[in-house]
Amino acid sequence: MLSSGMSLLDLSSFSNTDILSFFEKVKELKANPGGQRLKKNAIVSLLFFENSTRTRVSFEMAAYRLGAHVSVLDANSGSSLAKGESEWDTVINVAAMNPELIVLRAGDHLNLQDLAAKVRLPIINAGWGQRGHPSQALLDLFTLWERRRLSKTRLLFLGDIRHSRVVASHLELCLKLGIEVAACGPEEFRPDIWPHTWFLDLESGLKFADVVMALRVQKERHSKVGVTVPMDTFSYGEQFGLRTDNMGALSSASFIMHPGPINYGVEMSEAVTHDERSLILQQVENGIYVRQALLSLALGED
Ligand code: CP
Repeated sequence: MLSSGMSLLDLSSFSNTDILSFFEKVKELKANPGGQRLKKNAIVSLLFFENSTRTRVSFEMAAYRLGAHVSVLDANSGSSLAKGESEWDTVINVAAMNPELIVLRAGDHLNLQDLAAKVRLPIINAGWGQRGHPSQALLDLFTLWERRRLSKTRLLFLGDIRHSRVVASHLELCLKLGIEVAACGPEEFRPDIWPHTWFLDLESGLKFADVVMALRVQKERHSKVGVTVPMDTFSYGEQFGLRTDNMGALSSASFIMHPGPINYGVEMSEAVTHDERSLILQQVENGIYVRQALLSLALGED
């Protein structure tokens, strides 16, 4: 579990009991979002080397809700990376200014374990290459936990599982919670190691699912790690995209989720986001409360 002064780079230390007590804390925060404050004058540094909307803005709002001061560096826009400074040095220099905590989004090449040991202040992983996105997995499962018992839930990951950091973090939680995991998509998107069921056709996958988690086709990662035969997004959308005409295979009691951002016409049509089974904007809203809870655990309350 996360405690004061600790980094959150993955979810390996969260036990079943930790996860459920974390969800209770998030529920309390959701009922009273302004009811908790951080230690006085805490400064939270948001440092993003990759693009983000939901994660960055929700960590920023979460920090403000807790009474922290926030410093934001979008390293792709106006930072000294453009002058040749390395990402490692960028983090070390921001850390030298002594914020209480750094929220960091970075690529796989940056070693966050080494960085956290070096800077000696808490780092929260806000999306780390393909390795993990812990706060996203927590907010997704919190959103589901609000609606149903997680144990024995059948969760279908749909799409680009191979390149998904979200799936990596989910797998750290799902088995501990008794969630049954399966995936659906073309062979190109199957990870080298996938010990769970894999559906090659959408209808069978949807019939299995209590919740379908559609994933963005991560085109920006395909060129870096090599997909054997990249499937073009049009063909993907034709075969695996969720649309009103194929959603009948999903039970009326099931849920539709997507961590965002959505490519309409590829992972799903816009109409599907308005389906009464869709939890997509509830995921986004819960992102604030989950990140409030993470910040307050890592920084300690007043
Ligand atoms: N889900 C998610 O991480 O979205 P952003 O990339 O917009 O933060």
